[in-house]
Amino acid sequence: MGTLRLGVNIDHVATLRQARYGKMPESKNAEPDPIVAAAICERCGAHGIVAHLRADRRHIIDRDIERLRENIMTKLNLEMGNTPEIVDVVLRIVPDEVCLVPEKREEVTTEGGLDVVSQRKELEPTITRLHSAGIRVSLFVDPTLEQVDAAAELGADMVELHTGKLSNAFAEKIEKQELHNLQQAAKAASELKLQVNAGHGINYTNIALIQKIPHLTELNIGHAIISRAIFVGLDSAVREMLVAMEDYKG
Ligand code: PXP
Repeated sequence: MGTLRLGVNIDHVATLRQARYGKMPESKNAEPDPIVAAAICERCGAHGIVAHLRADRRHIIDRDIERLRENIMTKLNLEMGNTPEIVDVVLRIVPDEVCLVPEKREEVTTEGGLDVVSQRKELEPTITRLHSAGIRVSLFVDPTLEQVDAAAELGADMVELHTGKLSNAFAEKIEKQELHNLQQAAKAASELKLQVNAGHGINYTNIALIQKIPHLTELNIGHAIISRAIFVGLDSAVREMLVAMEDYKG
């Protein structure tokens, strides 16, 4: 088992910029720049950069994606909802990987996994188009055997297991149950030869629990790292997370 890899989600660097400059995207004062953030993450050892191009462009905008594509030296993992408009943008940019996520306009962040079981018909042509462009495809799913099976049947390369429920568990009983679900889903995905990633709500505390999930290749982490960066700098925030991930036994 190799080391557990870290993808840093930089959406919230753009959130901060948009809070002030959303209506003045061309301003020379527009900051902070997510592309600068990506470069710092890479220099500190992150294995990839993650960004979510949402339909409402509330944080990351098309220009960011174009500049990330030009500048990233590790790999670009683009999160996206399965809509024709976004698929067209993504096929123009050609990121290294795409993670298909459900997307609702009202949500603050991605709230649940993709229902691959009921959306096979809509997902299949998108996965085929992405594959034809040489893009590896991940599906963001809740940790159930049904969703993992459906992801494998559709020919996905990876699943990203939704860790939000575990991360936000307020009772030990829920935590135990959710960890069990994640462990079972990871095992099943690995047996189906899917790469197993995990993400959502992972922070410097619950990383210890996350490491009890077997077969993981990559963690995608955003909010906790960008939040910590406010106090200690992005450089230290990324390095601290990488150190916390070193204990992973696979
Ligand atoms: N993975 C996926 C699929 C996501 O949608 C998100 C949120 O954008 C993340 C990981 C990162 O979650 P967080 O910001 O809670 O670390």
